[in-house]
Amino acid sequence: MIGSEGGIMLRNQWETIISVAAEGGSIKLLGKEQSPGQWVFRKLVNEIQFDDLEDEAINSSSHDRIDYEARVVNKSWEEALQILDRYPWHKLSPREVHPGFRKQLWAAFQAKRKGDPRSSSHRPTRWLKVCFPDYSQKIVKLAEWLQQANHTTILTGAGMSTESNIPDFRSKEGWWKNIDPLMVATTEALANNYDLFHEFYSVRLKALEGCSPHKGHDILADWERKGFIQAIATQNVDGLHPDAGSRNVYELHGSIHKIRCQSCGINASIEQFYSKVACSHCGGKLRPGVVLFGEILPEDIWSASLSHIRKSDLVIVIGTSLEVYPASQLPQMTEGKTVYINIESNVHGTDFDLVINGKAGEVLGQVDDLLF
Ligand code: OAD
Repeated sequence: MIGSEGGIMLRNQWETIISVAAEGGSIKLLGKEQSPGQWVFRKLVNEIQFDDLEDEAINSSSHDRIDYEARVVNKSWEEALQILDRYPWHKLSPREVHPGFRKQLWAAFQAKRKGDPRSSSHRPTRWLKVCFPDYSQKIVKLAEWLQQANHTTILTGAGMSTESNIPDFRSKEGWWKNIDPLMVATTEALANNYDLFHEFYSVRLKALEGCSPHKGHDILADWERKGFIQAIATQNVDGLHPDAGSRNVYELHGSIHKIRCQSCGINASIEQFYSKVACSHCGGKLRPGVVLFGEILPEDIWSASLSHIRKSDLVIVIGTSLEVYPASQLPQMTEGKTVYINIESNVHGTDFDLVINGKAGEVLGQVDDLLF
């Protein structure tokens, strides 16, 4: 809520955190934000059948209902859940969930389901709809698959990094819309047109300065830590997956930050590359450690990626046009389920079990909300 002078004001009134209903009755957990992020909670029971010795009647309506309010005001979310836990709230039908508590309530509901897996009275679809009213069935399906899979490999392309302000190659604003890759990104360009080659990769390197991983990269790193995914094979040379904390990353097209001499292979610094000096060891040409058109992918990286893909029961392909061989073949080399996430619709739709149209960071964020 915005105050008259433009500042954020606390509403300072009781709001419904969750309301669940059984036949003819309801239980509400109410909350009041006392200072930013600091809530107090209390319960309201609107049905005699939920009578409870700790409760007192606070008003009687003209009908046969009595509202009961808990005496204790609870100060932590855990305590608030404890009051709810005195009722089978997770088996009742949810009516309303506070937007600021959707994720916590969904996690609490999932924990209840897990603790009581044989009960048929849960209503997960209803809970999903109330907790995440805007999420599509496809997001829900991907979250389920991810949770069920034993081995998940992610394959990313340049579309994974556009939300970090790094252009991709083949979209409207992509590198290859203005520059012919054969002129700048080939072994011929390195050998015969070094000035142009050097200028192109200097511009690419400069464009990365100040870019950092976005929420989608962070989520993938978190999923690896939590065991939801086992590996990331990426065509990106920007290093944003490792920067975000992902460990099992296979950089199929190398790393633009690792400068080396084309002739003797010795490493050099980015500053040496920028200043266009020759190799201090042999006088050869300095180049970034990317795979140029006409070069083969690093054997060990390729076989490790392939091995993960073959072991996978789920492969999620994010932000790639799948135009470049051999990375483009990887999704076909799994017997597992395949998912394609892309901002454009109708790309490779028929080749995948599930196609989700949307921005990488946003799609991953929504799926992450549903995991527990
Ligand atoms: P492309 O530019 O070919 O494809 C990027 C894809 O990501 C496109 O289909 C976009 O629609 C999609 N996209 C863009 N932003 C997105 C977002 N925020 N969320 C989801 N999707 C998004 O890039 P790559 O497929 O990675 O190789 O290109 C493969 C290789 O071609 C590159 O590694 C590079 C290039 O030539 C070499 O330089 C060797």
